Amino acid sequence: MAVQRTFSIIKPDATKRNLTGAIAAKFEEAGLRIIASKRIHLTKAQAGVFYAVHKERPFYDELCEFMASEPIVVQVLEGEDAIAKNREVMGATNPAEAAEGTIRKEFALSIGENSVHGSDGEDTAKEEIAYFFSGLELVG
Ligand code: CMP
Repeated sequence: MAVQRTFSIIKPDATKRNLTGAIAAKFEEAGLRIIASKRIHLTKAQAGVFYAVHKERPFYDELCEFMASEPIVVQVLEGEDAIAKNREVMGATNPAEAAEGTIRKEFALSIGENSVHGSDGEDTAKEEIAYFFSGLELVG
């Protein structure tokens, strides 16, 4: 297994409920290192660019509205097999299907307000990291 980097978002439903630290602890307990982190407030247009792949989906407008509704915390996580490990720690997109102990099982409110986002592959991880962070901000 190789050391990888993946991109994570702690979403508005979670920052609003003061869950940033509890979610970061889940990453660290799983052996993922938070090598970059910042709290930002996206515009709806910026959220739209990030989620452009979902443009044709019926939930796209609602998703962009939600992602711009409150601050988010964007992070880069590093570790062995980090992309898959993060997806395991997050749990299924729909909290009703998420496994016990996962972030979405414990914290998510619904499929839309599901507390966290994580990259789904190496190419998307690179693109998503580059959208939010400069190289100087990644401190491994
Ligand atoms: P995320 O992993 O950030 O990737 C796309 C997001 O779209 C997903 O998490 C959900 O928050 C959201 N999403 C997916 N399916 C639905 C749905 N049926 N209704 C509302 N939002 C959804």
